[in-house]
Amino acid sequence: MVKFLGNNKINLAIFISGRGTNLKSIFNFSKKKNSILNIKLVISDNKYAKGLEFSRKKKISTKIIKFKKKKDAENKILKLIKSNKINLICLAGFMKILSKDFLEKCNLKILNIHPSLLPKYKGLNTHMRVLKNKDKFSGCTVHFVNKNLDAGKIILQKKVRVNKNDTIKSLEKKILRIENKIYPLAIMKTVKSIF
Ligand code: GRF
Repeated sequence: MVKFLGNNKINLAIFISGRGTNLKSIFNFSKKKNSILNIKLVISDNKYAKGLEFSRKKKISTKIIKFKKKKDAENKILKLIKSNKINLICLAGFMKILSKDFLEKCNLKILNIHPSLLPKYKGLNTHMRVLKNKDKFSGCTVHFVNKNLDAGKIILQKKVRVNKNDTIKSLEKKILRIENKIYPLAIMKTVKSIF
């Protein structure tokens, strides 16, 4: 049951490290009529992340957090989450692994998007491994973050067919397109079930 009615929106913090196409798709979704989602904050560990340019253009508040000392970085993030009244965290191409300590202290649900059909191909280089194994299908998964990498409960998953002539690039492109579609839907599914 959604308790967030009227002017009360769900404040999202999106964590990025790079390009930001998923951030963009969540933003566009949040701007639809009657949306209850509001991107309150974008956090990046990389000051050159392209997604930061997009955020600034859209007047979303951004914070760059250096991860040289992980504990310090995570403490800064915890403070930002509190002061910005964040309700839900979405990792969207965020390349740092959050510690168990952070997950416990943060006390919020954290979502992540991964470019494979989890539990297959956790970690990096998913498309390369799919092609090497001659898999007929690949896809993407939105899941909850827990202390084990890419292992939390699956929220939404979508398959695509792998063609004989697919390359890492073509597969990445095909999968990114569906990532951008399912991430906002997975957020809404989560919001409906927890708020
Ligand atoms: C996506 O492929 C996502 O699945 C992975 O990192 C990539 C981020 O892409 N975790 P973008 O920055 O959202 O364009």
